[in-house]
Order: sequence, then C-alpha cells, then structure tokens
Amino acid sequence: MSLSGKVAIVTGGNSGIGKAVVLALAAAGANTVIDYVVDPDATEDLEKQIVALGDKTLAVQADVSKVSDLQMLVDKAVEAFGRVDIMVNNAGIETRTSILDTTEAQYERVMEVNLKSAFFGTQIAARQMIAQGGGGRIINMTSVHEDWPMPGNTAYCLSKGGMRMLTRTAGVELGPHGILVLGVGPGAVATPINASTMNDPGKLKTLDAAIPLGRLAQPEEIADVVAFLCGDGASYMTAATIFVDAGIMHSSPGL
Ligand SMILES: NC(=O)c1ccc[n+]([C@@H]2O[C@H](COP(=O)([O-])OP(=O)(O)OC[C@H]3O[C@@H](n4cnc5c(N)ncnc54)[C@H](O)[C@@H]3O)[C@@H](O)[C@H]2O)c1
Repeated sequence: MSLSGKVAIVTGGNSGIGKAVVLALAAAGANTVIDYVVDPDATEDLEKQIVALGDKTLAVQADVSKVSDLQMLVDKAVEAFGRVDIMVNNAGIETRTSILDTTEAQYERVMEVNLKSAFFGTQIAARQMIAQGGGGRIINMTSVHEDWPMPGNTAYCLSKGGMRMLTRTAGVELGPHGILVLGVGPGAVATPINASTMNDPGKLKTLDAAIPLGRLAQPEEIADVVAFLCGDGASYMTAATIFVDAGIMHSSPGL
C-alpha cells in the first residue's frame, strides 16, 4: 500500500498510538504533520526517525481543544505541503473518575480534548479537502468505550460515544465530497494513558486475563489498521468504527 504524495495530520502525534500512526503513515510514503502539546524532545526524535525513512515531516505545537489552534495546524500543513489528504483525530485524555466525583472542570476538559477537537478537526480538515478537491480520509481514534460502558470513567465514555456519532453523521454528510470518515476503536493498548495499570502487576494480570488474546495491544497494531484505512484498500468504507480490541468487548462485563 502506498500513501506516496499524501499529506497526513496526526493530533497528539508524539506519543503512544499517535506516534505509531505517524510512523506507519510515513512508512507508507505520506508526508506527516505531527501535532503535539508537550515533550518537544520526543517530537524532535520522531522527526528524525521520519526523515531517516526518506519522508518529509513538520511538527506543530497546537492545543486541539482550541479551534484557533486546529485552524493554525491545518493552515501550517497546507503552507508546508500544499494540501491535506488525511486527518487523524487522535489526541485524547481521561480522568478515571466516577460520575459521582467528576468535577465540572474535569468533564469540560475531557469533552474539549476528545470530542470538541474531533468535531472541529473534522470540520476544518474537511473544508480544506473540499476546497482542494480529490476527497480525503478522516480517522477518529475512538475506543471500545464508544459503545462499552467503563464504570469509573464516565466522561471519557461519553466523549467516545460522541465521537461514534460524529463519525457516522460526518461520514454520511461528507460522503458526496469523497471524504471517508472512519472510527478506529482500540481495546487496551500499551501506551502512557494506561501507565497506572501497566505499573500495577495485579491490575495488569486481571486485564490480560480478560482479553481473549491474553495481552494488551502494541501501538503499532492499531497504527497498521489506521494506515490501511487511509489507503486504496478501504475505498468503500465510511461512517463506521473498526474495533481493534482482540474481542475484549465480547468477553468481559466491563473493566
Ligand atoms: N491506550 C489505550 O488503551 C487506548 C484505548 C482506546 C482508545 N485510546 C485512544 O487513543 C488515543 C491516543 O491515546 P494513547 O493511548 O496513545 O495515549 P497517550 O497519552 O500516549 O496519547 C495521547 C496524546 O494526546 C495528546 N494530547 C493531550 N491533550 C492534548 C491537546 N489538548 N492538544 C493536543 N494533543 C493533546 C498527548 O500529549 C498525547 O500525545 C486517545 O484518544 C485515547 O483515548 C487509547
């Protein structure tokens, strides 16, 4: 599969799943725009890895919870590479707080970083794709929790449930423009967002035991699916979520 000549933006692209997505898209030949908010050193290391692959890349510091930063991100991608073909709305956070304890500030932050960013990331990228012509791909990094309750993480589940309907509705609305909108719903992935579980042997054993394949995913196992969805092989897919969860949604009553 080749993404040669394509330009891809990945939000939250300097760590975890986002970093693996940047590398997978670059390995397929795309020019990448790495959005980040923290850790410029990790971003610089990633830029070097991409240049070593022979691709062009640009790092942009942009807080995706702000519409003005998202607009600036897309504008910088167009300034550097002339177009945007792929937008991966990947940035996300969680609070792991019960509905009984979640504060207004926690609720608003989760919704802004996860859902508002995906809504306006979709809008701004789609406007650019329509203006330049030729369609495009928008990938929303949702979660099994777009559909599967996670007690103690209600705001997160709500944001991912919103991304589920964003993916479906925007997919229908943007289909006539040749813009395909797809969700990728990971199960449990070995990334910094799961550090507290991975650093607790008891919790990790329980989680591994609940997963039919017996282990967390590596970020690359999610990124390879994203790369496929950005390529020619996924030309008849839109308004749907592809779960990459080793069957966990069907095997456990909720973790
Ligand atoms: N790891 C998992 O088990 C798992 C499972 C399902 C879904 N996901 C989703 O995958 C996505 C990536 O998470 P991850 O596991 O790689 O964790 P991560 O913490 O490594 O990545 C999250 C990224 O988002 C960035 N980010 C946070 N706030 C931001 C903001 N305001 N603007 C721009 N970037 C911001 C972070 O800096 C980081 O780079 C998230 O949307 C998460 O909900 C992860």
